[in-house]
Amino acid sequence: MAIVSAVQGREILDSRGRPTIQAACVLSDGTAAAASVPSGASTGAAEAHELRDGDSARYRGLGCRKAAAAISGEICAALAGRDFASQDALDEVLIGLDGTPNKSRLGANSILAVSVAFARARAAAAGEPLYQAFARMLPAAPHVLPRLTINLFSGGKHAGGQVAIQDVLMIPLRTQSMDATLAAAHEIYEAAAELILARFGMRRLRADEGGLAPPANSTREMIELAAEAIAKAGFTPGVDVALGVDVASSHFFREGRYHLDGEVLDSAGMIDRLAQWTEAYPIVSVEDGLAEDDWDHWPALRERIQNRSIVLGDDLLCTNPARISRAIESAACNALLLKVNQIGTLTEAASAYRLARSAGWKIVLSVRSGETEDAWAADLAVGWGADQFKNGSITQAERTAKYNRLLEIETQTGWPVRPF
Ligand code: PGA
Ligand code: ZN
Repeated sequence: MAIVSAVQGREILDSRGRPTIQAACVLSDGTAAAASVPSGASTGAAEAHELRDGDSARYRGLGCRKAAAAISGEICAALAGRDFASQDALDEVLIGLDGTPNKSRLGANSILAVSVAFARARAAAAGEPLYQAFARMLPAAPHVLPRLTINLFSGGKHAGGQVAIQDVLMIPLRTQSMDATLAAAHEIYEAAAELILARFGMRRLRADEGGLAPPANSTREMIELAAEAIAKAGFTPGVDVALGVDVASSHFFREGRYHLDGEVLDSAGMIDRLAQWTEAYPIVSVEDGLAEDDWDHWPALRERIQNRSIVLGDDLLCTNPARISRAIESAACNALLLKVNQIGTLTEAASAYRLARSAGWKIVLSVRSGETEDAWAADLAVGWGADQFKNGSITQAERTAKYNRLLEIETQTGWPVRPF
C-alpha cells in the first residue's frame, strides 16, 4: 500500500540540451523520490505521444512546460490522497485519466515520469533496491546482469547522416562481469579512435550517444573498421567480441525504396545487403533492418539471417503490444527492443515484455539518444532480466550513470553477466 500525497512536474534538460520531464512523487509517510524520462531522435511513427509546448520562440517548440504543468495540476489532483496497492493500479489510473490511445492529451513523457517516480518512491518506502521492486512486476527473473551491447560508431540521425545506418555496436561475448565488459569496451573504443585518426585524420568527436562518428565512405567500411578495432585491441572478432547494427532503415526508406550508400534498393535488395553483412562480419544483432511499414518483407529477412543474428524490432514494434502481436503472428522478427517511453507506463512495457517472452523472443532493453543522469533503466534491465542492455557508448555522464549503477548492483549482488 502506498498513499500518494503529491506529484510535481519540472522541465529539465536532456543530454542533447533539449527539454525533458522530471517528476517528483511524495508518499504519505514522507518518502519522496524523483524520476526523469528520456527522449528519442530516431523515433518510430507508432510511439506514444511526447507532449511538447510547440512555442517556436522557446527551445524551437520543444519546451516541456505543458507536460510539467499536467503533472503538477491534473495528474496530482487525480492521484493525491489515493492508496495504490501496486504499480499496475497507479498506471491504470494514469492511462484512464489521459483517455487517448497514444497518450496525446497528457503526454507519455508526463505519464512515464510519474509512473517511474512512484515506483522509486514505493521502493524507497519499502527499503528495497529499485531493481528488486521492478522484478516484482514480472515472473521471477534469473539472478544475472544483462549483456551489454555498446555503441562504437554512430551514423544516421545521431551523427548528422554521414553514413545512413545509425549504430555499429560491440557485444563482448565472453566476459563474465560488468567490470570486465566495460574494460574490454574501453580498449576497443580507444583502438577505434586511433584507427579513425590514422585513416581519416579525424579527432575524436562524439555523436549523440557518445560513440565515434567516422566519415566512412560506406556502411560496409564502417562495419569493417569496427572489426579491425576489435582485433587491434587484442580480441578475436566473433569469438571474444561480436558486432551488432542498428540499421534504423525507416529513416532512409522513401517511396518503397531504401536509399543506402548512394544506391537505391528494393526490399529484396536490402535483405540481400543485410545478409551479405552478416555473412562477411560477426554480426549477431540486426535492428530495424527493414522499415517500420515494410511488414510484408520482414518474415523473409528473419528467415534469411536468423541462424546468425537476432532480428530485432525497434521502430517496427515501438514496445506496443498490438504491433508485437502482429510481429509474432507473421514471424516478422524474433527480438524486442524495449524502450519504456515508446509506450508510456511501466505496466504497459511489462505487458510488451511478457508478450515477447511468450513467443520465445530475446529482449534488449534500450535507453534513448536524449538521456538524463537518471539511471532507472539500469535497474529495469536487471529487475526484468533483459538479455541485453543497449545504453549507447561508454562515454558521457548520461551513459556512465547507467553503467555505474550496474557496477554498483554487481558489487552488491555478486551476480554474473548473463552468458551470451
Ligand atoms: P533514438 O534512437 O533514441 O534517437 O530514437 C535509438 C534507437 O533507434 O535505437
Ligand atoms: Zn533503433
